[in-house]
Amino acid sequence: MSQPTIESILQEKRLFPPDSDFSQNAHIKSLADYQGLYDRAKADPQQFWAELAENELHWFQKWDTVLDWQPPFVKWFVNGKINISYNCLDRHLTTWRKNKAALIWEGEPGDSRTLTYSQLHREVCQFANVLKQLGAKKGDRIGIYMPMIPEAAIAMLACARIGAPHSVVFGGFSAEALRDRLNDAEAKIVITADGGWRKDAIVPLKEQVDKALENNAVPSITDVLVVKRTNQTIQMAAGRDHWWHDLQKGVSADCSPEPMDSEDMLFVLYTSGSTGKPKGVVHTTGGYNLYSHITTKWIFDLQDTDVYWCTADVGWITGHSYIVYGPLSNGATTVMYEGAPRASNPGCFWDVIAKYGVTIFYTAPTAIRAFIKMGEHHPKSRNLSSLRLLGTVGEPINPEAWMWYQKVIGGERCPIVDTWWQTETGGIMITPLPGAIPTKPGSATLPFPGIIADVVDLEGNTVPDNEGGYLAIRHPWPGMMRTVYGDPERFRRTYWEHIPPTDGKYTYFAGDGARKDEDGYFWVMGRVDDVLNVSGHRLGTMEVESALVSHPAVAEAAVVGKPDELKGEEVVAFVTLEGTYQASEELSKELKKHVVSEIGAIARPGEIRFTDALPKTRSGKIMRRLLRNLASGQEVSGDTSTLEDRSVLDKLREGA
Ligand code: PRX
Repeated sequence: MSQPTIESILQEKRLFPPDSDFSQNAHIKSLADYQGLYDRAKADPQQFWAELAENELHWFQKWDTVLDWQPPFVKWFVNGKINISYNCLDRHLTTWRKNKAALIWEGEPGDSRTLTYSQLHREVCQFANVLKQLGAKKGDRIGIYMPMIPEAAIAMLACARIGAPHSVVFGGFSAEALRDRLNDAEAKIVITADGGWRKDAIVPLKEQVDKALENNAVPSITDVLVVKRTNQTIQMAAGRDHWWHDLQKGVSADCSPEPMDSEDMLFVLYTSGSTGKPKGVVHTTGGYNLYSHITTKWIFDLQDTDVYWCTADVGWITGHSYIVYGPLSNGATTVMYEGAPRASNPGCFWDVIAKYGVTIFYTAPTAIRAFIKMGEHHPKSRNLSSLRLLGTVGEPINPEAWMWYQKVIGGERCPIVDTWWQTETGGIMITPLPGAIPTKPGSATLPFPGIIADVVDLEGNTVPDNEGGYLAIRHPWPGMMRTVYGDPERFRRTYWEHIPPTDGKYTYFAGDGARKDEDGYFWVMGRVDDVLNVSGHRLGTMEVESALVSHPAVAEAAVVGKPDELKGEEVVAFVTLEGTYQASEELSKELKKHVVSEIGAIARPGEIRFTDALPKTRSGKIMRRLLRNLASGQEVSGDTSTLEDRSVLDKLREGA
């Protein structure tokens, strides 16, 4: 099994129209309905988004301008006043949803908890008051470094309630990665847990926080809040560290939501780019609330009886938009799962579906490929008949995996939504609407209404059908990122200058290669920059290189991706050594460990190749293309005439 290739997708002709029963009850019922919405949004985007904002959300004060576009900087719903925690909680309390399950949590090992809207509201208000008591104010950044437990969602919503932007850092990141992110965001408080369960082991989260804050390495931090989860012994620094349950005791559950300006920052979330330093992607309140809300409603076709489960971690954008904000804004029941599929429990996902009667299931292709390998008997021995819709996200899905998902998990009755989007886009951009758009295995199909997507060359011209090009967006949308935190020039450079603006028109450059077929369907091929996609996680090659060269043995490092059956891509590092260091199996292991401690387990190189020199051009640039060929065992292709020293290449070949 492999990633889709140009040849395989051009041969992919299977078409799956939506089931008529599904369509009849769906929010968007037919291709004609979709087309109507799409055309209307294209003709008058401001009217389209304004109507939705008015009908779908609660505003404390209406905006006076829908869109203020000063490329590449955008404002939506200018001067509108809104609070996303109000839209996710308070407004449901005056309806029958008050006692509906908002959050169903399935924990490890065997723990579980359900919070109704009313209970979740209470906890969020109390915790918001705790934050206030610690001095947190509107605009203060708050770090969240937590396991997948209800308190993670409670913390996010409490930050949103008081207007303190959160910065969630994935619990699998190392202390070093956490420290860099907290420093960049200049966070005031960090919320964590004593430990978290990850694949049958405990991750010592508080210990990592202590390491990150050692020697006052993050001077902006005043307080650390700790949820008791795994009960292991931890150090509590007097005056700085507090137990969540201690502070929450007896605190009032009365906390009115801060009226936020539509453009006030809601959160900053770090993601990898093509430099060594992760970017703080900034999302603001009103536009993000609308975009995450409406995409969840239409793409997952949310109905009041649904039990919706997205398997992502809240440390990623998928967790923000499609575990917490989108589902709760719609008054849905959202499932949160602390575990992960692993050899010791290969059926755990299917058990969760059967236990709670999950109707909508959203996961990543890498997980699907792992399940295929584990064998059909696991899902087949569970009752998955509650499922009615399936989704995938994070990387291209190969048609074989799509077909397996459709047949074995979906019982050939569930539509599949293959959703293309990014941390930067805030919500899903290219996707089927399940009652309306016929699907083709491996294609994310068509753009969401209001999204003007295209495949272009580097001048911004649309390329002909079925020719490869760069995925680009032509018009601003409410969920788009506003800037790179603290670095607006990087925002401009990274997303808006690869395709030079013409006639004052700016085009958003997504960093993905794609093609569009004769039906206008998009086929996303993967990154075109130095960003890898390992098991659906974004990883900058330069980040891994910086981690490697920070080890005393390493003189130079070049990191490339190699296609991998399960993970999509695997990290391969070419390394030259300092002076007296000798290549050895032991050193290879040590370097892998070093990368894990610098970044986290998601960055662990699958392979380290020691070499005397790296192939470079005469101007000293590493020729990664050649390394990519070598890593994947292919013949070195293309022009090698700019190579400074051909013998380097010959040696690398011999070494392989
Ligand atoms: O390369 C694309 C891939 O994931 C990248 C975005 O990564 P991140 O910001 O971490 O967000 C992941 C979850 C939204 C994209 O640039 N990607 C995401 N979804 C798809 C995809 N590639 C192909 N098909 C998808 N459905």
